[in-house]
Amino acid sequence: MSVENTNDLLALLGPAATAFVNKEHKLFIDGEWVSAVKGETLDVINPANGEVFARVPAGESIDIDRAVKAARRAFEQGAWAEMSPSARGKLLWRLGDLVEKNADELAQIEALDNGKPVNDARWGDVAFSHELLHYMAGWSTKINGETISLVSGAPFHAYTLRTPVGVCGQIVPWNFSLMMAVWKVAPALAAGCTIVLKPAEQTPLTALRLAELVEEAGFPAGVFNVVTGNGETAGAALAEHTDVDKIAFTGSTEVGRKILAAAGTNLKKVSLELGGKSPMIVYADADIDKAVSAIASGIFYNMGQTCTAGTRLYLHNDVADKVLEGLVSHARALKMGPGLDQETQIGPLVSAEQKQRVCDYIASGLAEGATLLTGGGSWGTSGYFVEPTILDNTHNDMRVVQEEIFGPVLCVIRFSEAEEENVVIQANNSIYGLAASIFTQDISRAHRVAKRLKAGTIGINTHHVIDPALPFGGFKQSGWGREMGWEAIELYTELRSVGVAL
Ligand code: NAI
Ligand code: MG
Repeated sequence: MSVENTNDLLALLGPAATAFVNKEHKLFIDGEWVSAVKGETLDVINPANGEVFARVPAGESIDIDRAVKAARRAFEQGAWAEMSPSARGKLLWRLGDLVEKNADELAQIEALDNGKPVNDARWGDVAFSHELLHYMAGWSTKINGETISLVSGAPFHAYTLRTPVGVCGQIVPWNFSLMMAVWKVAPALAAGCTIVLKPAEQTPLTALRLAELVEEAGFPAGVFNVVTGNGETAGAALAEHTDVDKIAFTGSTEVGRKILAAAGTNLKKVSLELGGKSPMIVYADADIDKAVSAIASGIFYNMGQTCTAGTRLYLHNDVADKVLEGLVSHARALKMGPGLDQETQIGPLVSAEQKQRVCDYIASGLAEGATLLTGGGSWGTSGYFVEPTILDNTHNDMRVVQEEIFGPVLCVIRFSEAEEENVVIQANNSIYGLAASIFTQDISRAHRVAKRLKAGTIGINTHHVIDPALPFGGFKQSGWGREMGWEAIELYTELRSVGVAL
């Protein structure tokens, strides 16, 4: 199959995904499908061949304002404001069912739009999305305050009430488009908030399909709104808007800082899930075969465009050659191709810009003295493919070891027995702190090191640890707040303290 031919690629879409992709896309505001006020559009590009295959409205501040007004109205009055927690939970459960029922279609749309392997989209992104919707549906009926015993012993009955924070702006990236949206939408709806969602300009389609499913599930108008558009316009307008009570963002640390500054207009609540540069440490006593496959998926899953990607590999000298031999042959065996091809394991990166960024990082690592073990650059004659790449002999001062690359590039740092105590300090030597992993058979060491690593999620003999019930978020410049679990409900609720004079 020729990747250059759009028609060949689009033939891999099922009929439902084809019908969706080819329709005229609109914004979803106040339960209606509307064009952007100024009528501008954005091109949607297939990263497997660089061709435009759809257009979506380029919403701007005026569209954001309409959506915020609708979300405000739905929050303050009407069916949603009056709905029982049980009814809210049932709607959310129904939305989870609809995502599950349409999972193949959603996975195909994501694979086309983002480039990722369709099976990863189906069994990663989409499966996690309906699991999380179902999980959060359960919290709807379990959001309680507490009765508090007053220190003073005053004749008061005192208690807390936990209530929805209000209108939420949610800005999500392109790497797991649907799933990142659901991470934010599910707890916000469970808590009783209303939403304006701004998907990434590179991958807007699954958010629009999600809006159709929200409509089909029967949520009242205005509860969930989607405005597609650019970050600097639509995204910035949402972050600045003075009638938004909370902004939740996933994306680069650089834009995270801008979100924080924009939130200063009305001091809205902020949660941020930002970049990472996660270390993986392999000790001499590790089970090498198991470590190799966990490390390979730690770095190459989703072509390394994963905030938790294990990008720095600290390897004990005694096992370094054996681990690297395993990783190199694993990397070379990965099948590259368009995401819609069922056999693909490594698809293109999301955009020409991202491909260029990653190739520049590889060149910078080599210029700073790294040794190329495999990969090294772009692949194929069209599309945004980058080969799985391993750079050996890197060290903590190199840009490739300090900065987020967001591509399939692993940096290897070897350590000796004498340096072993120091390796955790090196692993913590980063502005980020999202994830980390340790490979060892010594359970005491595993737990000891887990407690010293400055990261929000730690894997022991595994790398990507993720579940709807497990709090997820970052230390340091990887972010503020924890998504998933009960902690996500806390992000979308406010506490009132009430005192009753008896
Ligand atoms: P980005 O941070 O610019 O984009 C993420 C989202 O923020 C998108 O929806 C975008 O439209 C929006 N946005 C951009 N500028 C904005 C602004 N001024 N105000 C409000 N919203 C804004 O990420 P980008 O440029 O696509 O990727 C650059 C790098 O960021 C990547 O190479 C990677 O290192 C990092 N990144 C990290 C992600 C993560 O999951 N932590 C996800 C995406 C990117
Ligand atoms: Mg950007």
